Amino acid sequence: MKTVFINIKELVQVENSPKKFVSGKEMNILPTLKNAFLIIENDVISDFGIMEKLPNNIHFNSIIDLTDKLIVPTWCDSHTHIVYAGTRVQEFTDRIHGLTYEEIAKNGGGILNSAKLLQKTSEDDLYQQSALRLEEIIQLGTGAVEIKSGYGLTKDAELKMLRVIKKLKDNYPIAIKATFLGAHALPSAFKNRKNEYLTDVIENILPIVAKEKLAEFIDIFCETGYFSVEDTEQLLKAGKMYGLQPKIHVNQFNAIGGVQAGLKYNALSVDHLEEMRPEDIESLKNTNTMPVALPSCSYFLSIPYTPARQMIDAGLPLALATDYNPGSTPSGNMNFVVSTACIKMKMTPEEAINAATINGAYAMGLEKTHGSICKGKKASFFITKKIPGYSFIPYSFGNNHIETIYINGLKTTQSSF
Ligand code: NIG
Ligand code: FE
Repeated sequence: MKTVFINIKELVQVENSPKKFVSGKEMNILPTLKNAFLIIENDVISDFGIMEKLPNNIHFNSIIDLTDKLIVPTWCDSHTHIVYAGTRVQEFTDRIHGLTYEEIAKNGGGILNSAKLLQKTSEDDLYQQSALRLEEIIQLGTGAVEIKSGYGLTKDAELKMLRVIKKLKDNYPIAIKATFLGAHALPSAFKNRKNEYLTDVIENILPIVAKEKLAEFIDIFCETGYFSVEDTEQLLKAGKMYGLQPKIHVNQFNAIGGVQAGLKYNALSVDHLEEMRPEDIESLKNTNTMPVALPSCSYFLSIPYTPARQMIDAGLPLALATDYNPGSTPSGNMNFVVSTACIKMKMTPEEAINAATINGAYAMGLEKTHGSICKGKKASFFITKKIPGYSFIPYSFGNNHIETIYINGLKTTQSSF
């Protein structure tokens, strides 16, 4: 099955040979082709170029004219918690009335609130609730996503979450990577016994996660009042023995050395980074660890934005993700993330689109198959409505500029599911 898209106004994020990620000044370069064609064969991209070079000796099953429309590779959302039960709307209104996110957590709300609800929810119900969110983000242009556990906080509930993620992987065409986040918060049953909980996670849950191949990555919330740098090192060390690479929550409210702990254990990414000390930026230079910013979380909680300008100007790479979760970011809209990165973090549209595609793909180990328009990569991209250029996507914030989505070469609409 061969399809050709012709007269594409602009084919965005093209590359001839796949790169790992882009950093520093290179992030401001977004390679595109104007008046282009794209050929897909079954589920992969087989060729692309400018219209003058369109081969005339090929039989196509379908020819699609995209005059005035752009093609952009699907967004790569490398940090989400979309498997959860219910909502935390009450906490949202509590914050409007003056409570902080940290105060709510101290009063037994927050992550523990979600855990209580999830523990009571059946696996089937949890799957149905989560599948709806997955379908929602696909319609918003996301073609690869990482999903974390961490709202279970007991062996049974953590495994339930990870099995739901596995079922989503089996039933949906988009690329999904799973992360074990057993150390997300201290469950009330272990109050004042943090070390015992960590031991439980390491000795009783982690071996099953690894044996049943339920996760590729391991995560921990390294933060004052949650888990310390020592806890983080202990967990990452254990994760490494089971072949799970770290992708960790660090520097959200306090910079306590989480970045360095991640680097020590070769983290694929360090995420949040709202609070960055000069030494945190310095230590990330020339490493293979991707810093990940989550601007929708900053927006929703009214906390500082990750200092993207400082980081990119220092030569670092940066990826953007949603953090979609019930407490700090009840939104999985990567288009909004890209806009907010430009508007609030002063990233250029080129930097933001690189951060949300190729760098996001790298941050979940998918850079060989996703994140760009490249021969041999998955035919996962979206076609825009008639818009003047790619900068219009972040500029015209809050609007939907996507007309059609292709995942693995197939046109995907709400009725596909
Ligand atoms: O990434 N910071 C830790 N975890 C989530 C939020 C958890 C919650 O409030 O439910 C985050 O923001
Ligand atoms: Fe998160």
